[in-house]
Amino acid sequence: MASIIALANNKGGTGKTTTALNLAAGLARDDHRVLLIDADDQSGTATDWRNVRPDHAPGFELVAMRAPTLHVELPALLERSQYSHVVIDCPPGGPNSGGKMTRSALWVAQLVIIPVAPSGPDFWASDPMIQMLDELAIGRPTPVVSRLLINRKTANTRLGREARSAAGDMLALPVLKTEITQRASIAEAITRGLTIFEFDSGGLAALEYQDLTQEVLACLS
Ligand SMILES: Nc1ncnc2c1ncn2[C@@H]1O[C@H](COP(=O)(O)OP(=O)(O)O)[C@@H](O)[C@H]1O
Ligand SMILES: [Mg+2]
Repeated sequence: MASIIALANNKGGTGKTTTALNLAAGLARDDHRVLLIDADDQSGTATDWRNVRPDHAPGFELVAMRAPTLHVELPALLERSQYSHVVIDCPPGGPNSGGKMTRSALWVAQLVIIPVAPSGPDFWASDPMIQMLDELAIGRPTPVVSRLLINRKTANTRLGREARSAAGDMLALPVLKTEITQRASIAEAITRGLTIFEFDSGGLAALEYQDLTQEVLACLS
């Protein structure tokens, strides 16, 4: 059965979709058979991204599954297919505000990645996510691995340097070693319907997503 990775955070704008797209592309470049699920029932950004793509063929499959029955539909789909990895792009919304879709996705994920921007208010706003993970741990047959991802790091600022320990302390979750820097190329690639590997394959952002891909694979092994 495929490995399932969910990108989740109750807070919007933290980089779930951006990470999901570039991670799916990184895995596909590494010769994995990847399915990206657009589970964002609010904005559907990943599907919009595909629709502005020049060629509609990002190297991985993308389907929308926006009903909170994903935990039933996805395993059934995977039984009939050959995917090695599934990346789920969750919508925003916490336990008290429409988090049903995220709960459904988290139920079947082996690895949950929670992107957070390196600032106190962003860490505090992600707290409901931790509550959802705690609730999920009760009754799940297998444990889920949860990791924070520092995204939109601003290089050479104290906040940037201290983000890792602050995030880990405030949200009490392990933080991925790879950090994704705030870079115009990342936003520009998405706006043009491209992955970072297509838009700027030799750039530093592509290297960071390549590192992230390898670290994710290590978390799953
Ligand atoms: N590392 C980054 N550098 C620059 N822009 C980023 C980065 N990560 C995300 N963004 C931008 O921030 C905005 C929100 O990101 P998005 O992935 O859509 O968040 P979410 O899916 O969590 O709501 C988008 O415009 C995206 O291009
Ligand atoms: Mg999104």
